[in-house]
Amino acid sequence: MTVIEPLARPLVPPPGGEVLHRSARATIIWGDCRDPEVIAQVPDGYGLLCADPPYGIRYNSGRSDRFTEIPGDDGSVDWPGVLAEWVGRTGRTRGLAPSRHVYVFGYRPDQLTEPLRLGGTAELVWDKQDLGSGDLSLPWGPGHEAFTFGVHVKRRSDREKGAGALSARLRRGSVLRYPRPGRGRACHSNQKPVPLMQDLIESSTSRAHRIQDSDLVVDPCAGSGSTGVAAVLSGRRCFLVELTRADAELAVERVRAAEHLAKQMEAL
Ligand SMILES: C[S@@+](CC[C@H](N)C(=O)[O-])C[C@H]1O[C@@H](n2cnc3c(N)ncnc32)[C@H](O)[C@@H]1O
Repeated sequence: MTVIEPLARPLVPPPGGEVLHRSARATIIWGDCRDPEVIAQVPDGYGLLCADPPYGIRYNSGRSDRFTEIPGDDGSVDWPGVLAEWVGRTGRTRGLAPSRHVYVFGYRPDQLTEPLRLGGTAELVWDKQDLGSGDLSLPWGPGHEAFTFGVHVKRRSDREKGAGALSARLRRGSVLRYPRPGRGRACHSNQKPVPLMQDLIESSTSRAHRIQDSDLVVDPCAGSGSTGVAAVLSGRRCFLVELTRADAELAVERVRAAEHLAKQMEAL
């Protein structure tokens, strides 16, 4: 008997991406976040952009061969320019709702203020409470990651008037201490801790009694879906895009588990 092998899954997502998961709480697309057909699917007036794009430095920590190189990590992509499309082009009101927040890992406020039209910014630090291996030829190992907080102000005139100054309810220290996902337990080379993402999401969005009224958190480079897991566990909704099929499937698996947990918690 002839055994027909299943066709290997294509490695490149189709134009417009493919929706791998859609529920009341989460949408997960296997797709390229630079694709205008993917960007067109982002709901307008969403509540928070959490982005963890490749940092433009090839991943090379020597930490484990379980992880392959991250696509788009070779410095060839203008990530602030890509994220500008996600908050909504200049002069347009679509995309991220006015005066809502962004968190972008690996980029400084001065790299993001203009393209993302940020009225107020702060540089934050994630203290990983652990020494990573990083470049082993250097005496200092990476124990932290810097990221940017900003308030998205659509109109230049409002930004020039100083709109978007940080709200007092967010008045916190700029160092956030959360252990990095433990060795052997992490499923992505750049995985963010879910409690860190929950802290950011709960500081910048609100949840409603009915899930459809809760804020929507958007992550265009979702990796293993930590932002989505955090959003769902915090009673918010999420919209995720990931380029690598295996990671997008991992994000679906993790977000589904979080949805199950969230439903159980709500039933108590
Ligand atoms: C720094 S990692 C994100 C890790 C994630 N925060 C987590 O906790 O798992 C960046 C991710 O962006 C993805 N990526 C790179 N280029 C992309 C693109 N054009 N569209 C969507 N995702 C992309 C990579 O495959 C990688 O998984």
